[in-house]
Amino acid sequence: MEQYEIRRNSTVEFDPMCDKSNPQKISFEDVSAAAFRIQSGIIKTPCVKSHMSSKYGMDIYLKNDFLQNTGSFKERGARNALLLLSPEAKERGVISASLGNHSQGLSYHAKQLKIPTTVVMPNVAPIMKIEKCKSFGANVIIHGHDMKEAKHHAMTLSKEKNLTYINGYDHPHIMAGQGTVGLEILEQVPDIDAVLVPVGGGGLLAGVATAVKHLKPHVLVYGAETEKCPSMEVALAKDEPVNVEIRSTLADGLAVPTVGYNALATIKPLIDRMITVHEDWIARAILRLVEQEKFVVEGGGAVCVAAIMAGLVPELAGKKVVCILSGGNIDTTILGRCLERGLAAEQRLVKFKVTVSDRPGGIAELCKLIASIGVSIKDIIQERAWVYGDIFSVRVKAVCETRGPEHTNELRSMITNSYREWYFSRECDLSHRRPSTDSLDDVIH
Ligand SMILES: Cc1ncc(COP(=O)(O)O)c(C=O)c1O
Repeated sequence: MEQYEIRRNSTVEFDPMCDKSNPQKISFEDVSAAAFRIQSGIIKTPCVKSHMSSKYGMDIYLKNDFLQNTGSFKERGARNALLLLSPEAKERGVISASLGNHSQGLSYHAKQLKIPTTVVMPNVAPIMKIEKCKSFGANVIIHGHDMKEAKHHAMTLSKEKNLTYINGYDHPHIMAGQGTVGLEILEQVPDIDAVLVPVGGGGLLAGVATAVKHLKPHVLVYGAETEKCPSMEVALAKDEPVNVEIRSTLADGLAVPTVGYNALATIKPLIDRMITVHEDWIARAILRLVEQEKFVVEGGGAVCVAAIMAGLVPELAGKKVVCILSGGNIDTTILGRCLERGLAAEQRLVKFKVTVSDRPGGIAELCKLIASIGVSIKDIIQERAWVYGDIFSVRVKAVCETRGPEHTNELRSMITNSYREWYFSRECDLSHRRPSTDSLDDVIH
């Protein structure tokens, strides 16, 4: 690959390294050269057998790239792209737009390599990711409501200030760097049958597929994305990148509305399957990774485990499967919400309303009943004004913690047998789950 620099062009959005009329595929040589180039600045992260293997009937290995210095695999591509800049471009500096992980990787390595960096992040980028970029000394600009607006601004600045724009998923040097994850996986688990890769703009999948299919063509390569932004699935179906509407997702790193042209061209002949994962399963995967593996992983990083948990890859039963845990940058408040969503989806958090006597001891009796089967009350409120019928009754709304579906059923039977008026949230029954737009606040309303 040649060194490059953005040339001034009349069209602000034109990036010569990601030219839709001339998509570039990367090669195995690009990935192996990147591996050599970046090795001194990147952590070779462990790929460990998961404790969840027997539960799902496959040998699951977890490639822990969330353990990189900035908490994601994005450093690999960023370092590769920075090292390939011409001396003049290094001096002028670089610019990029990203929701956070690419910006962090770029800021961190640019600081090490003494290259001035500007990152443009939309106002929806997680606070933790914004603060980290600042701490790495980057010039951080918050602009726009989404990636499209942030990117437009970054490209405008790149032309105004003569900075090199580095696309976080479609630049060939970025994709080649990301592919080094694939090389490490093959070295760490030589006899794998399949690798599951999270997909946003497609750079990671393009790199990993290039490495894996070159060395072991029989190994299955699957991409996994969130149902809230299925941009790769749509692109493969239409045979070109298409702008899809993004809905709010807890896999913020995967919220790229249009996949890359270079990435799609590289992926198309190599990919075996794309999987779209429901958000509930992503929340459950985050919870399961915390509980079973003691790993804190962000939504985008947990999507592959979520695909397995959701039963979306039955053909991999009995096989050796690697899931890439691509990032761990999750705001603590979001982590808390994910854990609660996950507990609710696993029926370990239950909400219900029940009308009980408002005479002394009525609520105490309910609490005693709940405690008698080992269920604990997490939240409880009482409502007296909007209750019909008996004036000496009170409606109690409760959120309880149980051990799982069986325990929840026990609680439900006990309440329904002991009281006349009750209502259990439909979330207690996964077969009736609505799309995951509810929040735990619904418990109390
Ligand atoms: C944690 C995480 N996983 C996966 C991805 C997807 O990578 P790509 O955009 O190269 O498909 C991203 C993208 O930012 C990410 O942040």
